[in-house]
Amino acid sequence: MALAETVMAHPWTPVQIARALESPTFRARLALDGRVETGPVPIGIVLGRRVVDLLELDLVGVDPSRRRGGVARALLRSLLASERAAGIAEARLELGASNGPAMALYEGLDFVVVGRRSRYYPDGDDALLLTKAFA
Ligand SMILES: CC(C)(COP(=O)(O)OP(=O)(O)OC[C@H]1O[C@@H](n2cnc3c(N)ncnc32)[C@H](O)[C@@H]1OP(=O)(O)O)[C@@H](O)C(=O)NCCC(=O)NCCS
Repeated sequence: MALAETVMAHPWTPVQIARALESPTFRARLALDGRVETGPVPIGIVLGRRVVDLLELDLVGVDPSRRRGGVARALLRSLLASERAAGIAEARLELGASNGPAMALYEGLDFVVVGRRSRYYPDGDDALLLTKAFA
């Protein structure tokens, strides 16, 4: 349930996510906990969208109890590598300016800030525009 709480804190609803997964333009990575007693439990998710030769990252979330274990970095590296091999020129995303953990994650993956939208989010936070070029 913890990952569900993380995902539900995102502006997307579970129904929107389910619909997105049905779209041929969407790309996804899911990390599962493999304990035998519980069966597979989702602990991390990355959702992206191909727009011509761009990959737009829409959702990245990790179960709070599993953070700082490299899950998000591994999911993003996997998706970025396969999309790069498929020919994308660039990956992009928007990020709350106050989201220090996510900023550190993306900086570590060589994303750079290319823009800022003032008070973009309902809580008044600015949005940062980040990009990683492959060309
Ligand atoms: C941001 C988030 C996805 C990171 O997931 P994670 O699995 O904990 O991240 P990782 O363990 O792969 O961390 C990779 C790197 O990111 C940085 N990082 C991640 N969390 C951090 C934190 N709390 N503080 C500082 N740096 C952090 C570090 O550089 C880290 O490398 P290191 O552990 O070797 O120092 C997770 O905190 C989360 O789900 N947050 C809520 C949802 C969200 O903000 N999503 C992103 C919006 S675009």
